[in-house]
Parts: sequence; structure tokens; C-alpha cells
Amino acid sequence: MESRDVVILGAGAAGLFCAGSLAGQGLDVLVIDHAPRPGEKIRISGGGRANFTNLATAPDRFHSQNQRFAASALAGFTPRDFVRLVDRAGIAWHEKTAGQLFCDGKATQITAMLLDRMEAELRLGTPVEGVARSGAGFIVTAGGRGIAARRVVLATGGKSIPKMGATGIGYRIAADLGLRVTETRPGLVPLTFAAQDLDLCRPLAGLATEAAVTAGRATFRDGLLFTHRGLSGPAILQASSLWQPGDAVRLDLAPGGDAAALLRAAREATPKRSPATALGALLPDRLAAAVVADCALGESRLGSLGNAAVERLAARVHRWTLRPVGSEGYRTAEVTVGGIDTRDLYARSLEARMVPGLHVIGELVDVTGWLGGYNFQWAWASAHAAARAILAD
Ligand code: FDA
Repeated sequence: MESRDVVILGAGAAGLFCAGSLAGQGLDVLVIDHAPRPGEKIRISGGGRANFTNLATAPDRFHSQNQRFAASALAGFTPRDFVRLVDRAGIAWHEKTAGQLFCDGKATQITAMLLDRMEAELRLGTPVEGVARSGAGFIVTAGGRGIAARRVVLATGGKSIPKMGATGIGYRIAADLGLRVTETRPGLVPLTFAAQDLDLCRPLAGLATEAAVTAGRATFRDGLLFTHRGLSGPAILQASSLWQPGDAVRLDLAPGGDAAALLRAAREATPKRSPATALGALLPDRLAAAVVADCALGESRLGSLGNAAVERLAARVHRWTLRPVGSEGYRTAEVTVGGIDTRDLYARSLEARMVPGLHVIGELVDVTGWLGGYNFQWAWASAHAAARAILAD
């Protein structure tokens, strides 16, 4: 039977980075993937330019049942460490907004850089079928053949975008080996809305504004986009990672503004004007008109608004509560929230506590980044932590 020091399952962001971090130490490393090409999600990430890290990376930018779990790996390999590799590879990049770093050119440059660092054998077009313990090591079954491995790195990613090769097999393999798996659900995904909410959104399709969207206990202030299917944009995607079926989300369409004070002052100063004109100081004009019409005040003048109507309009601007009916699901989700239970992994090495020699890295772990390059940074950092532990063995 074929035998290797390390078998890495998955040639995505985490698997490729782990292989590169193991290079130069004389280890016999095999990377297996069922896809015909490595790094498919890197290729499509960031609109084809890969938002490859975020300079604001910190444990509080990740969702997990144990918020502190990611801290050790993130401290061991920082965004600056990855930028050094990108610079050394001669890849031009820019900071788009607040710490988000993107390639100037194609995202595939990042994959090429990861492949260049590797000395491992890359076996593509080979589906992983299972992993079983065997003595002090493992037998990996892939493409119908058994491969003996001293160590196995599970890096098969989450369930999002099956069309891009996601299978979710890593959760099954981990569970078969006795690891706990927390509930998984699509994250960074557009939410879907009921017909009455769509009535407001559809005519505004294409309109973008800044909003603060609250789901659960977190509020995300970012871009909001009205679409034919409801609401999207970064603020909604961020909120979707915390949204649970049945929950409401609350939108502040003019964060930092005070619609009630504005309307009261305008009522005094310009009573003959429409409320929409006044709200235009806080909201895009089309949105202001839609909000006023939605409150059945489309024909009113400011002077005729009572205090209750002013409060109703202000509530609609600052505390618009919607109950999404669902999300677009794994078909379009950027990530899978939840995953391998961090209680069953060592934070420093990503090694399974009860299965020595098995490491779990990347999106499979119950560590899910916010939008903006955090998920790749977790892939790099968790892969680096696992590689460092393997090399120290
Ligand atoms: P990843 O999914 O990268 O790799 C898993 C690998 O395992 C794949 O190559 C897959 O083919 C393979 N595999 C699965 N099942 C298998 C099986 N049974 N047998 C063999 N191989 C198997 N993040 C970010 O930080 N910045 C960004 O700009 C973006 N943009 C973005 C856009 C889109 C459209 C998506 C879907 C996602 C993003 N992300 C992102 C998220 C980011 O892509 C994601 O978090 C990382 O790729 C996760 O890295 P992993 O290596 O864990 O999984």
C-alpha cells in the first residue's frame, strides 16, 4: 500500500497553504482533491481578485461557539505574514476598504503562489471517501485506493457552493473519527423575504445605501442593496451569519441620523413640503419616497403630520423590522457557519484531542469569519498552526 508522512485532504486555501508550510523539511506529503483544479474558491473569491486577508483580523471578527479559540492560530500567523509572501511573489495588491486587501490582478495569482511554495505531490480528480485509524496512523481511502498516512490534515472545506466542489465530507469523516460537529448553516448569504416585504424592495432594485443591520446581538454597519429578490449587500450578508430561521432582522436605514428631529424641524420650517423631501436629507430620494408611501403618508405635507405620524416615519427609518423567510442557502453562501467543535481540537495545533495525528483546518472548523478577507486569513493561520505542529513532531 502507498504510504506517506502526511496526507492533506483538500487542495483549497487551507490545504494548499498547509502543504507549502511543510515544504523543505524532507516530509513526504500528498495533497488530494476531487476537483480537476486546485483552489477553485480562491479563483472566484473577491469578484475574481481575492480579498486575501484583512489587516483588522482579531478573534472578535469570527463567529464560533468559542470566540477565543481562533486567537492562538491567528497570533501565530498574521495578515502581515501573508502580505510578506504576496510581496515576495511580486503580486500587486491594494487596500479596498478598511483593511481589506485585494489583488490588483487575478485571484489565480494567489493559487499560483501557494502551488509554488509546495513540494508535495498534488493528486487531483481523486474523491476522498473516508479516513480510518490504523495503529498509530491512518488509512485514507481516496479514488477507491487505500493510502497509509502518519498524519492526516482534514481541509475539505464547508458545504457552500456545491457547484465549486463543496461536499461537506469533512464533517462526516470527523464524526466517524469521534469528533463532535456543531450545527452547520449557510453564512454570508442573501436572505429571502416574504411577499409584502418584496413589494417595497422590488421597485428599489439596484439602490444601494449605508445601513446598520442587527441580527441576534450583533449590528453590522455597511452597504445595503435593494434587489428584485429582497435585500442584499455586505450588511445583510454579515447579518445572515447570525440569523436563525424565525428570527427578525432590524434595519436602521440612516445610522447616526435622527429622522424624528429632522421631520419636526422641517415641519416648523417648511410645512408645505412633503415628508419625503425632508427625509431626503438622510436617505436616497427614492428610498425616502418609498418609506413615506409605505407608511401611507405619500400624499401628506409636513405641516399636517401629527407627532404619532412623525414617530411612525422615524421608526420606519431607524427600526425597520423584517422577518426573512429563509436564505438562498448553500447554493450561494460564501461560507458555512459552525462545523467541527472546537472543544475537540487543540487551539495551537488544530490537532484532534482524542485522535492524535489528525488535524482539522480552514472552514471545516467552527470558526467563521466576517465578510472582508477574514475567512482566508483563518485558512492561512489554521494551516500554518497545523504545519508548525507537524514539523515540531
Ligand atoms: P476550500 O473550499 O477552499 O477547499 C476545500 C477543498 O476540498 C476544495 O478544493 C474541494 O474541491 C475539496 N473537497 C471537498 N470535498 C472533497 C472530497 N470529497 N474529496 C476530495 N476533495 C474534496 N473568503 C475571503 O476571505 N475573502 C474572499 O474574497 C472570499 N470570497 C469568496 C467568494 C465566494 C463566491 C465564496 C464561495 C467564498 C469566498 N470566501 C472568501 C470564503 C473562502 O473561499 C473560504 O472560506 C475558504 O476557501 C476556505 O478554505 P478551505 O481550504 O477550508 O476550503
